[in-house]
Amino acid sequence: MPHHRTLAPPLRPGGELPVIHPELQRHYDSLYDLLLNGRAPRDARPVLDVGTGDGLALAAITMGTPLHGVAIDAASPAHWMGPADWGVVRADAQRLPFADRSFRSALMVDVFEWLRHPTVTLAEIARVNSGPILLVQTDWDGLWFQVDEAEHGRDLVSAYTKGAPENLRSRIRSRGAEAGLSVEGISSVTISTDSLKPGSLAWDTLDSIRRHLVLESAQIRARRFDDWRRELQHAAAEGQFTMSVRRVVALLSRNGGDRA
Ligand SMILES: C[S@@+](CC[C@H](N)C(=O)[O-])C[C@H]1O[C@@H](n2cnc3c(N)ncnc32)[C@H](O)[C@@H]1O
Repeated sequence: MPHHRTLAPPLRPGGELPVIHPELQRHYDSLYDLLLNGRAPRDARPVLDVGTGDGLALAAITMGTPLHGVAIDAASPAHWMGPADWGVVRADAQRLPFADRSFRSALMVDVFEWLRHPTVTLAEIARVNSGPILLVQTDWDGLWFQVDEAEHGRDLVSAYTKGAPENLRSRIRSRGAEAGLSVEGISSVTISTDSLKPGSLAWDTLDSIRRHLVLESAQIRARRFDDWRRELQHAAAEGQFTMSVRRVVALLSRNGGDRA
């Protein structure tokens, strides 16, 4: 399975700042609003970002805002591309090196599907955090490349999304409930785009799929993949291309709210 399956913007060679895909800008803005959950930024910080990776998704959500906090990941990032003023700590989210209620918000983007013990992990995040937990997970079942309304390349997309959890919403609800959390809100967000220019969301998503299928796991020959991509590019030039992807966005909180 591609362990870095994410919708975060890629690191551009030589780039200093993350490039946010314009197709996702509104989505990231709404994630920021959800994280505040009606509070002023000063009441929502410090924030804990769980499974931050290289920090690009965190940067996309919080860049240019007064939020700050600590980002943790079980692996050390090769290059930290997240906000410069955040702490970065190597830690397993199942055993966080923080005192109870050290944070006032928590964020976890595209990590849920990789958790070995989601209930234990969610309970541990709730222990160190007195505020809401914003859990975002791409629902890879909802990744589609369409040409003229018809799906194109399902076998290639399925090889990439293999192993992704089904019934994400009910899974998040039940793991949350087992961890003593209630769901304040849960929704599926569909992001669609008809652009396939270099650097667009669809372009970069195809690049990730290619990297996984052709280079890392050698399941698909480069030529087969490139033929598919060329067909999609032709369709895009004729205005007949769409990519859609779905994300589940859940806001969890401790049962009984934020009382001590
Ligand atoms: C797909 S990446 C997502 C990175 C980033 N949040 C994003 O959206 O681009 C998943 C990350 O979760 C981390 N991770 C998985 N399980 C973890 C755990 N138990 N504790 C800490 N980090 C974990 C992985 O090391 C990886 O960096």
